[in-house]
Amino acid sequence: MSFINSMITAITGNCTDISRLHKYNKQCKQPSFTSIGGVVTKKSGELAYRIDTSFFRNDLYWDNFVRYLSDKYQNAKKVRVINHACSSGYEPYSLALTFMYELGEKAKKFFPIKARDINKTNIERAKAGEFRIDSFEWGGIDFYTNNTFEKYFDVYKSDLYSYKAVAKDEIKKTVKFKCKDIFKDMRKISKENTVLLCRNFWPYLSIDEAIKLIDQLATKMKKSSVLVIGDYDSVYSVDKLLGMYGFKKTEINNVYEAPGKNILSGTSKSKIIDKVFAVNDSEKDYSKSLSLLV
Ligand SMILES: C[S@@+](CC[C@H](N)C(=O)[O-])C[C@H]1O[C@@H](n2cnc3c(N)ncnc32)[C@H](O)[C@@H]1O
Repeated sequence: MSFINSMITAITGNCTDISRLHKYNKQCKQPSFTSIGGVVTKKSGELAYRIDTSFFRNDLYWDNFVRYLSDKYQNAKKVRVINHACSSGYEPYSLALTFMYELGEKAKKFFPIKARDINKTNIERAKAGEFRIDSFEWGGIDFYTNNTFEKYFDVYKSDLYSYKAVAKDEIKKTVKFKCKDIFKDMRKISKENTVLLCRNFWPYLSIDEAIKLIDQLATKMKKSSVLVIGDYDSVYSVDKLLGMYGFKKTEINNVYEAPGKNILSGTSKSKIIDKVFAVNDSEKDYSKSLSLLV
């Protein structure tokens, strides 16, 4: 680990300094890993979705994101954090670790994180609290948690390159997992001070489904709430759609503030599609289905 750690520090050491100096720095990229991956297909054999995920996926500046939430909700007693499409739990635990490391006791008002996924196997895995990580990824985790990972996880060597990390009760109690379809979970999402993460899952929806979901979120989410997407979602123009619906980009990449009302209520889907994909016809064709590989 020490060699790996020093490699990580060599690669990312500057990033730590920069992000500590500049409040919401967007300049540096951290390494990315895929701890678990796989494809779920429909009965027809078509791709339904992928379940790929990892600790600290590099399309979110986790520490800056948590500091932003801490600022935004400094006067709130309770903040509801919902992590939809959480796959097998690496994402909500990354967030929980960052909350604990960055905020200490003050993290309590964000817990428990409500972690949801449509896939039952994902949720069973997540509840078991066992995670495969490789040495390089462990270094990435240490980068975000200042080497405190082993305080929250028992780590066992699995083979030459990978480890099994088992969540301890202290971290386990910060995340509650449930199997749920995001389309059926709007009542929860409509509460004040809600932070909704649904990241790297939009490309598996058809364009009609994507618009339907954004339309519902724009209608239901309160102005005090925050929505977080992933880099893959923007590749499929979800960022453009959010902008049209009045979601406001923040200084943190992929993090949006909810508009508080649906400014496109009643607008036809075809008009919205025309506007979003007005750039050129090839992009319009490509928008007919968002269901491409992530
Ligand atoms: C590529 S993974 C993304 C995992 C994680 N959000 C990340 O960024 O690392 C996509 C996940 O979306 C989930 N998913 C697909 N449709 C969903 C739905 N309608 N409601 C909730 N989760 C869904 C899948 O089960 C899968 O775990």
